Amino acid sequence: MKRRPIIAGNWKMFKTRDEALQFIYAVSNKLPSKDLVDSVVCAQFTVLRCLVKRQGENLRIGAQNMHYLDEGAYTGEVSAPMLKAIDVSYVIIGHSERRAMFNETDETVNKKLHKAFEYDLTPILCIGETLEEREKGITEKVLAKQLELDLKDLTKDQVKELVIAYEPIWAIGTGRTATSEVANDACGFIRSKIVEMYDEETAALVRIQYGGSVKTSNIDELMSMPEIDGALIGGASLKADDFIKLVESAVNNKAEKV
Ligand code: 13P
Repeated sequence: MKRRPIIAGNWKMFKTRDEALQFIYAVSNKLPSKDLVDSVVCAQFTVLRCLVKRQGENLRIGAQNMHYLDEGAYTGEVSAPMLKAIDVSYVIIGHSERRAMFNETDETVNKKLHKAFEYDLTPILCIGETLEEREKGITEKVLAKQLELDLKDLTKDQVKELVIAYEPIWAIGTGRTATSEVANDACGFIRSKIVEMYDEETAALVRIQYGGSVKTSNIDELMSMPEIDGALIGGASLKADDFIKLVESAVNNKAEKV
């Protein structure tokens, strides 16, 4: 099993241009080699270009959303060709905050995934259950349905390149992290569903992150779990020193896999 770990910061609606620049200068030359880990920062649109210009070879830059069409009368939206034209590498698709607050549906998520692949952007697809769904015992049903709808008509080769972030909604920004066993079980379930929808080879290659209150104090435990290939990190990714430690943890805990 050779899956390169991937640590991605999701800055959400934080950091002005100056703050983003401070971060990039603070991490430059301090991140482990891209041969060992993919380090990614997903920033808001206004700072993407200035980050891309200074990203260094061990860091890639991602967006947090995009439209599913190339262009059109969609005030306030940004498209895949626009991101590609400034050398953005990744894009988060279907974050629960966008699903809950900005009318993102499985249908639009699916269209966005197709569009991201068309423009050679690597999507980080977010899925996860609410607290109510977990307490009702329907977590796996919810994840299976999201995967069926979100991945509709994607090819095996596309899914092999995809990053899936398992982000239980009850763990996001709450300080309430899923235990490493709970997170590992959910990531394992996602992989088994990919086997069912595609095949063993595809499932062995797709990278599955955990996201939700990941920080320097709990990353080691999460990264030591076999089904978890990395993390999508909100709050703790905003500080340069912490981001470096989070990436280093993935390298240390996954070294034997690479
Ligand atoms: P926190 O790490 O702040 O809980 O956010 C998780 C998240 O939503 C990453 O996409």
